[in-house]
Amino acid sequence: MLSNILLITAVGLGSFRSVQSQSTPSICDNSTLLIDSRQVLTTAQECTAVAGDIVIQYASDYPATIEFPNLESIDGSFLSINFDEDIRVTRLSAPKLKSVTADVYISRWVNLTTINMPVLTTINRVRLNNLPSLTSANFLSTLESIENNYEVTNTSLKEITNDKLPFAVFVEIFDNKELEKFELKGLKNASYNVALRRNKPGVEVSLPALKEVFYFEFQRISSLEIPELERVIGHFVVNDSTVESLEAPKLQNVGLWYDPSISITNNRGLVIQNSGDSESLSFPVLEAVQLDLVIRNNSALRDISFPMLRRVTGNIGLEGTFESVRLPELDRVGGIFSLGNDEAGFNCGDLQAFKTNGTIRGEFSCPRYQELPTRSSSIGESEKEIKDWLNWASPSTGFESFRSMGAVAFAIGISTILLVL
Ligand SMILES: *[C@@H]1O[C@H](CO)[C@@H](O)[C@H](O)[C@H]1NC(C)=O
Ligand SMILES: *[C@@H]1O[C@H](CO)[C@@H](O)[C@H](O)[C@H]1NC(C)=O
Ligand SMILES: *[C@@H]1O[C@H](CO)[C@@H](O)[C@H](O)[C@H]1NC(C)=O
Ligand SMILES: *[C@@H]1O[C@H](CO)[C@@H](O)[C@H](O)[C@H]1NC(C)=O
Ligand SMILES: *[C@@H]1O[C@H](CO)[C@@H](O)[C@H](O)[C@H]1NC(C)=O
Ligand SMILES: *[C@@H]1O[C@H](CO)[C@@H](O)[C@H](O)[C@H]1NC(C)=O
Ligand SMILES: *[C@@H]1O[C@H](CO)[C@@H](O)[C@H](O)[C@H]1NC(C)=O
Repeated sequence: MLSNILLITAVGLGSFRSVQSQSTPSICDNSTLLIDSRQVLTTAQECTAVAGDIVIQYASDYPATIEFPNLESIDGSFLSINFDEDIRVTRLSAPKLKSVTADVYISRWVNLTTINMPVLTTINRVRLNNLPSLTSANFLSTLESIENNYEVTNTSLKEITNDKLPFAVFVEIFDNKELEKFELKGLKNASYNVALRRNKPGVEVSLPALKEVFYFEFQRISSLEIPELERVIGHFVVNDSTVESLEAPKLQNVGLWYDPSISITNNRGLVIQNSGDSESLSFPVLEAVQLDLVIRNNSALRDISFPMLRRVTGNIGLEGTFESVRLPELDRVGGIFSLGNDEAGFNCGDLQAFKTNGTIRGEFSCPRYQELPTRSSSIGESEKEIKDWLNWASPSTGFESFRSMGAVAFAIGISTILLVL
């Protein structure tokens, strides 16, 4: 109790003193606080709260470290998207900054090695890009909530980890040449995507709480931990990776039938390709794949088995030197079934039976791989294709499926809007 009173008194005195010694500069209330010289920077450094955006532009006389020692909140964005001269600052620091209402967007500070914002917990979105010298950005780990993007592109960070963020829209991690580990332990839901591309080969990826994601895309990863993932609404792609054992123990559904009012430009559903170290795939409860199921060019893979898979709305394309293909529950394949296998004596007969009894609607090709047809992207074609599928796959429940498709169209509509933003 006594210590509380002392603390309150101390805080009270502290703020009293600061009010006396320095009144807050008026630029802290600007709707845009534009920093474009060392002089403005010096004044801005006095701000505790900024009412609008902070925008940092090039100046020839900045010190090597830009620090905002008092800054606690920004009721706008923290932006520095440099298009002309490179800002040569090496360290950006805001040790007391807790919240930024809109975006933290820093781009093209070619010499920036450190962003020090150790208590930043709340922002709308973060975009770091073209910061090739950046090796430390502690706020990426301290963030507890974002409303929108978590984007880190073209940095030298070795690790990107966070164990608190429960939700994000876009999670995009591209072109980080030193990245070894990517871990979002708290993330349950990513409503647009989680995507890693062109990072250092061999990134270890851990998403232990993720249940649902729209698009899921991984390139150049060496491991993927997704024990809770149940639904991938758009596609699931693992490409050009060195994952030895790919396990998705709870994944039930990949892909969703698409919106007839938007054109589909690719066939991707579940795609695992160009991953020569991949020895095993485990999708024990996967029931449905919309669009295509493609497993190609994974030279170490011996067995392809989807024990619960019932429906593939698009095509199935399997190519490699595997010894067995097991699809015991397969009931409907809307497109073609193409299997290319160079192993002498691969038995196509069991699979041929799926064609013979009508499970496969399109052509059947085995053991020679036939390229999968690409989907027509015209709106009328898409709509016709959906109706055809529904009539063919489940004539009795066609109406129900069509209704739920309305909801799907709505969901994809939203994601399209987000993409535009
Ligand atoms: C603050 O706003 C005033 C009035 O709009 C403007 O003249 C001034 O340049 C702004 N200062 C900074 C540092 O952005
Ligand atoms: C800043 O980066 C540029 C371009 O990479 C480089 O030429 C320059 O030496 C760097 N300057 C400092 C002070 O690190
Ligand atoms: C990374 O950023 C630097 C600095 O803007 C740029 O020169 C380089 O081309 C970028 N690299 C990639 C792969 O985008
Ligand atoms: C994921 O987020 C979206 C968008 O907020 C929401 O519609 C969906 O219900 C969420 N899913 C889960 C499993 O929380
Ligand atoms: C797979 O990765 C290669 C290069 O690594 C790229 O050219 C190709 O477009 C990727 N394919 C998919 C489906 O992501
Ligand atoms: C097959 O995958 C390997 C990696 O395992 C890759 O180097 C090669 O380019 C891929 N082949 C084709 C035709 O994409
Ligand atoms: C079609 O043939 C496959 C392979 O023999 C079998 O597993 C499946 O149960 C059959 N389906 C029907 C509807 O007869």
